[in-house]
Amino acid sequence: MGFLELTKICKLGVFLLTKAVVSDNDMGNLVEPERIVPWMEKRAVYPGFFDPITNGHVDIILRGLRLFDKIVVAVLKNPKKEALFSTKDRVAMIQEIFTHQPDIEVKAFDGLLVEFVRRHKAKIVIRGLRAVSDFEYELQMALMNRQLDPEIETLYMMPSVNYSFLNSGVVKEVFSLGGSVKGLVPEIVEKKLREKLKQGRLSVGK
Ligand code: PNS
Repeated sequence: MGFLELTKICKLGVFLLTKAVVSDNDMGNLVEPERIVPWMEKRAVYPGFFDPITNGHVDIILRGLRLFDKIVVAVLKNPKKEALFSTKDRVAMIQEIFTHQPDIEVKAFDGLLVEFVRRHKAKIVIRGLRAVSDFEYELQMALMNRQLDPEIETLYMMPSVNYSFLNSGVVKEVFSLGGSVKGLVPEIVEKKLREKLKQGRLSVGK
């Protein structure tokens, strides 16, 4: 048997083996692997309340751009949750931060996240995972979203260790008590926090 024939037989073997592995349906409702790759080359949704956006969120968005062509930042308008910044302000701050980044789109949303994801023709939700303490909430959310739409996957990314202690609530509390948040939030956010403080709208617990 010549070298060419041997190569052809090997290639056929690898092809059949791959098919067998992929069609072996022991993956529950997991979508077929070959369908995930094209999605990963497209867009992902990064949802959150962003009251306000921190450098931890920015870090995750920029990491996301290393994997996806486009990130849609989905800002929750949640009338039940008390916010320091209006939805309009939260969206505007994020838009300003990424003003020179056409591959980042910022949109407000209400209702189910999976519906927003479907409307934006995405299949991946990105979430940041800072510490073990985040895990339970994130697991519940990811599994509920999977229950609602098995075709949507949640992808967790770790932020830089510099931001692993950071969240919007801590930023507001520290700032309201006169602490510095330099380097922890984008400049526009610091400016807007200063304005809120001047207006007497920033107090602990908000
Ligand atoms: O910044 P947050 O508060 O951690 O973001 C939470 C968010 C906005 C991702 C989550 O509350 C959400 O997706 N809300 C939309 C309602 C929904 O789809 N709920 C079902 C999943 S639990």
